[in-house]
Amino acid sequence: EQQGVEAPVFSAASYACQRSTPQPGHNTLLTDSLAVLAESAELNGDEGRAVAFRRSEALLRSLDRRVQGVAELRGLPCLGEHSRRVIQDVLDNGKSSEVEETKSSSRYKAMKVLTGIFGVGVKTAKRWFTEGICSLAQLETSGHTLNPAQQAGLKYYADLNQPVTRDEADAISVTVEEAVCSVLPGAQVTLAGGFRRGKTSGHDVDFLITHPDEGKEEGLVHKVTACLESRGVLLYHQTTRNTYQESPEGAGRPRSNMDRFERCFSILKLVQDPVQVEADQTDSGCRPWRAVRVDLVVSPISQFAFALLGWTGSKLFEREMRRWAVHEKSMSLSSHALYDNNQKRYLTASSEEEIFAHLGLEYVSPSGRNA
Ligand code: GTP
Ligand code: MN
Ligand code: MN
Repeated sequence: EQQGVEAPVFSAASYACQRSTPQPGHNTLLTDSLAVLAESAELNGDEGRAVAFRRSEALLRSLDRRVQGVAELRGLPCLGEHSRRVIQDVLDNGKSSEVEETKSSSRYKAMKVLTGIFGVGVKTAKRWFTEGICSLAQLETSGHTLNPAQQAGLKYYADLNQPVTRDEADAISVTVEEAVCSVLPGAQVTLAGGFRRGKTSGHDVDFLITHPDEGKEEGLVHKVTACLESRGVLLYHQTTRNTYQESPEGAGRPRSNMDRFERCFSILKLVQDPVQVEADQTDSGCRPWRAVRVDLVVSPISQFAFALLGWTGSKLFEREMRRWAVHEKSMSLSSHALYDNNQKRYLTASSEEEIFAHLGLEYVSPSGRNA
């Protein structure tokens, strides 16, 4: 065994939901590199490869100190050959040639620009790229008919691609809480998503809404959007009603990780602090406001713990929890419920802690879910 100058070998559990993963972690050079490759795979529609890189990235982010050499990573789970090669390259040369090539490729750049438009997914962007569309200007002159989401996405492109700060999220929270409580007194608004995990910026602001009296929350999204609209702060919205009652997932696993809550993907107008506007005037023109993406999700109180867990993320953390549930516990976890396939019954929970306990997992607080 090699001893002496070398740092001790790391150890880590294999599922991200068994670990606490902070943001940003101690190995940002490595995790940023792997994130580019994961993103590139996502943009290619290669889900398997993307998840493999995301798992490697999350594992490195969970380590409690900086990696000095690949020898310390011996025996760690989640790190495939490809990831280890990239890590080695970054440790040896300060960067990975594959990552550099990816970042400078015209395909990656174009796909990032196009999928950066709200309402444009990988499939659409791919089709446009195949037609030679690489920029917003080319898209605008292409003659393609854009759906309402994409039109809004293009219109507010600059704003929506500028990260939302924690202060902005707090200001949006005030607006949303006021609207929710004016249409349904007693309703509870909880900040979910990346901000609940302690991230200092995000691509949107996610809210979960419920009411202590089950049933009172029904139809709430429409009332809230009507209220926001009357206040002149709703720039765009697309509402989906709750479809869980009509076709509950029943015994067996949910067909997809899309849930069935009443929800609204919206763009809100955030009126800015006059001082801030002064400072930002160069890039935001002279408008005293900016557009912010906001997700509103309404959950019945009986499903709230599951909804909160599901909408707090991260995406990979959720994915890993579901994988753990199925493969290690023979259970099906969704944002609505937890079903035990052995006992053939639903396990109820009124807190996230109870859900972790049902799954035989140690509780991970939101700030540790940045997998
Ligand atoms: P940023 O917004 O990029 O800062 O990160 P985020 O972690 O907040 O991401 P996002 O807003 O995309 O999603 C927040 C959480 O909601 C994640 O855990 C997602 O998995 C979850 N989520 C997003 N869309 C859906 C959906 O349609 N159904 C379910 N069940 N969960 C979703
Ligand atoms: Mn979010
Ligand atoms: Mn969101």
